[in-house]
Amino acid sequence: MKIIMLGAPGAGKGTQAAQIAEKFGIPHISTGDIFRANLKQGTPLGLKAKEYMDKGLLVPDDLTCDLVVDRIAQPDAANGYVLDGFPRTIPQAEALTKALDARGEKIDFAIDVEVPDENIVNRMGGRRACSKCGATYHIVFNPTKVEGVCDACGGELILRDDDKPETVQKRLGVYHDQTQPLIDYYMAAGVLREVDGTQEIGKVFEDITAILS
Ligand code: AP5
Ligand code: MG
Repeated sequence: MKIIMLGAPGAGKGTQAAQIAEKFGIPHISTGDIFRANLKQGTPLGLKAKEYMDKGLLVPDDLTCDLVVDRIAQPDAANGYVLDGFPRTIPQAEALTKALDARGEKIDFAIDVEVPDENIVNRMGGRRACSKCGATYHIVFNPTKVEGVCDACGGELILRDDDKPETVQKRLGVYHDQTQPLIDYYMAAGVLREVDGTQEIGKVFEDITAILS
């Protein structure tokens, strides 16, 4: 099953994608996580991506598309994957469609997690991310068992650099301009499904599971 997660920054794409990946035994491929892992290792890609991420801007398509096209060709993605944070622009969606067409494949579902902007800003301040494995939590809505320590790997929890309120506002603007048009793109392709992302995390996952099953 090949799934795309759509939705604003903070809508819960990563939270839901991790659960989908686990339930269906497919890889969770997050471009944001790939850029952050590269930055942690100090690779040229990571350092370049940081210039854009810290400003709340999108990393250029030429740095992003090949990376994902290569990643989905890996053996662990043979039975499908859940893409989180890609595509994010029409050219990225077209590059993905082209790569899939060349292999006679297509996306099965594009799931749009809908959350209004006013809810997003409140959520981001409480988000904590694991510095080691990237798992995402929330101090109120999805707390760890031990404060400040990742449930999955024991890593230290940190605030993401781009979660400052002014950067979140910028990311929301970029989302509306460049990413929201993908909703029409995947609707036209007949694979768009919408879920109410303002519900609690478990309920959102139930709705997604019902769509996928
Ligand atoms: P990326 O890492 O993809 O960030 P994003 O899209 O801005 O989305 P987030 O990860 O912030 O939010 P999310 O929807 O995953 O929400 P989460 O589950 O964490 O990208 C970062 C940057 O990298 C971009 O700005 C860009 O610069 C660059 N980039 C990445 N991909 C790119 C691409 N394809 N092209 C170009 N540039 C790219 O949830 C948020 C919080 O809310 C958490 O604390 C969570 O616990 C909580 N929460 C989740 N669900 C609920 C719920 N139902 N109720 C209450 N709280 C909830
Ligand atoms: Mg995310």
